[in-house]
Amino acid sequence: MKVLIVGSGAREHAIAWKVSASRLEPRILTAPGNAGTAALGTNMDVGAEDLDGLLKLAVEQSVDLTIVGPETPLAAGIVDCFEAEGLRVFGPTRAAARIEASKAFAKQVMEAAGVRTSRARVFHSLRDALAYVETADPPYVVKADGLAAGKGVVMSPGRDEAERALRTMFEERAFGDAGDTVLIEEWMTGQEISVFAFVDGSYVSNMAVACDYKRALDGDLGPNTGGMGSYSPPPFWNAEIETNVRQRILEPVARQMAEMGCPFRGVLYAGIMLTSDGPKVFEFNCRLGDPEAQVVLPRLESDLLEIALAASEGRLSEQTIRWSSDCWVGVVMASDGYPGGYETGFELSGAPPPSDGRIVFHAGTRLQEGKVVTSGGRVVTASARGVTISEARRDAYRLAAEVRFANAYYRTDIANLD
Ligand code: GLY
Repeated sequence: MKVLIVGSGAREHAIAWKVSASRLEPRILTAPGNAGTAALGTNMDVGAEDLDGLLKLAVEQSVDLTIVGPETPLAAGIVDCFEAEGLRVFGPTRAAARIEASKAFAKQVMEAAGVRTSRARVFHSLRDALAYVETADPPYVVKADGLAAGKGVVMSPGRDEAERALRTMFEERAFGDAGDTVLIEEWMTGQEISVFAFVDGSYVSNMAVACDYKRALDGDLGPNTGGMGSYSPPPFWNAEIETNVRQRILEPVARQMAEMGCPFRGVLYAGIMLTSDGPKVFEFNCRLGDPEAQVVLPRLESDLLEIALAASEGRLSEQTIRWSSDCWVGVVMASDGYPGGYETGFELSGAPPPSDGRIVFHAGTRLQEGKVVTSGGRVVTASARGVTISEARRDAYRLAAEVRFANAYYRTDIANLD
């Protein structure tokens, strides 16, 4: 069995690592991959957004299954392209990926499915959006409708911030077409959680839950990033919340999307706020989270490759999907300066090979003359297991301290739940 994994982050290294443990003993290709995925198979020099190149690669290499990590190729229709050529692929079609790629579409689905979510108004012009802000009370959350690499959500405590965000989207076109439609949403408060389930169009698997840290600096200060760390499972997750999320959020959304003619197959990721009024959705994504995958996939006791094959063929209910009760913490090590400017090309050393309970997942790394060097903002995630979150946290930080590169930066408060 030959498996192609699309992407180059620590999430994709985690996917490749889990797939490499499959009893189906696959050969793994990763496009474009990183120094971590190179140790598990072969990196192919094709970008994750080069759909034609990926299709050619999959055909030429007779790939049996493609697993797509990031949202951009999914939103661009990689699954539709591959399926049109008779290739098996794990991920949602372009129409189903709109659950992430259009926030207005996600609201439509939730409204039709009766799923509780933040109240939102959708605007297609600056004038109408500004008029609304004049009449509605702050605070607001201003969101670009389309994909904006995690930067399209602006928390706006007052009218001035909201107006600035709206002008950035509509007038300055900071996010291009993604900001042609803008949502102004209710600002919810509570604990944020990321919930993941495998879905095959109708069946929704057992879930895994994690929390991530989006700000660059300790104390949730500094700019937003792709994610600086995560832990799983959250100690406050319980059977009551799980039943609520399954019966009132994930299953109704999967049913609704099937009814709308765009059944969801892949990993459905619900961003949920645990408010004083119960769980409410603030966003959906159409893939595994990063850095959540780096703490969630190590807890998957079942065979990821078999799950992906079953989901891509609509027979997920035949699979037993088990998550261990172990705790995992992941600390993202970044290049100093990220998410702004940073230098790369520094040698990385000290990262031990994956072992039981300790894994360094690579992201912005590449091989150069037999050495691993840094090549991106987020460089690795140091993930470790424990019986409790605090034990996993201690070991994740010990692991991070073993990894060395010249301009390493990481938060020191990941999973500090005291
Ligand atoms: N953890 C945030 C994301 O993957 O979008």
